[in-house]
Amino acid sequence: MKKEIKIEYELLDSIEDLDSNDAELLKAARAVTANAYAPYSNFFVGAVAELNNGERVSGTNQENASSPVGICSERVLLSAASVIYPNVPIKTLAISYVNNNDAAKNEQPVSPCGICRQSLLEYEERMKQKMRIILSAAKGKVIILESAGALLPLSFGSSDL
Ligand code: THU
Repeated sequence: MKKEIKIEYELLDSIEDLDSNDAELLKAARAVTANAYAPYSNFFVGAVAELNNGERVSGTNQENASSPVGICSERVLLSAASVIYPNVPIKTLAISYVNNNDAAKNEQPVSPCGICRQSLLEYEERMKQKMRIILSAAKGKVIILESAGALLPLSFGSSDL
C-alpha cells in the first residue's frame, strides 16, 4: 500500500504581506544575524521567538574551529528560551540568514537542518503547543508553517520510547 504525507505551508511574496507582529519578528530575526559567529561558513543565521508571555528570545549560529562543536541558531535559541523562560511555550519563531559567500542566494527562505527540526519538534511537544515558524532570507519570499512537526514527517519522538 502506497501512502503519501503532505505538508502545508503558506508562501508570501515578501515581508510586506505579513501582519505587523509577524513582520516585526522577522525584522528582528534579520537584524540579529549580525550577532552570529560564523567566520568559517560565512552563513550568518538569526532566529527570534515570541513566547506566550510576550517576551522575545533570540539565537544566532555559533561556530567553532573544531567544526562539529558549532551550534545552529535555532538550538542556541531553544536553549536560551528554556533557561530564561522555562516552561513558556513559543508562539512564533522567525528565522533568517545572510549568506556572505553568494549574494545571489540571499533571497531563498532558510531551511532548518535536520538536527534543529528534531529539537524544534521536541520543544513544541514538550510545551504542548505548536509553534508557528516563519522562514525567510534577508529579503524576498516568506514561508509560514503552522508547526515544527510539519518540518519533520515520520518523526521519532518521546512517545516511541
Ligand atoms: N545554520 C543554522 O544556524 N541554522 C540553519 O537553519 C541552517 C544552518 C548554521 C550552521 C552553520 O553555522 C552555518 O549555518 C552553515 O551551515
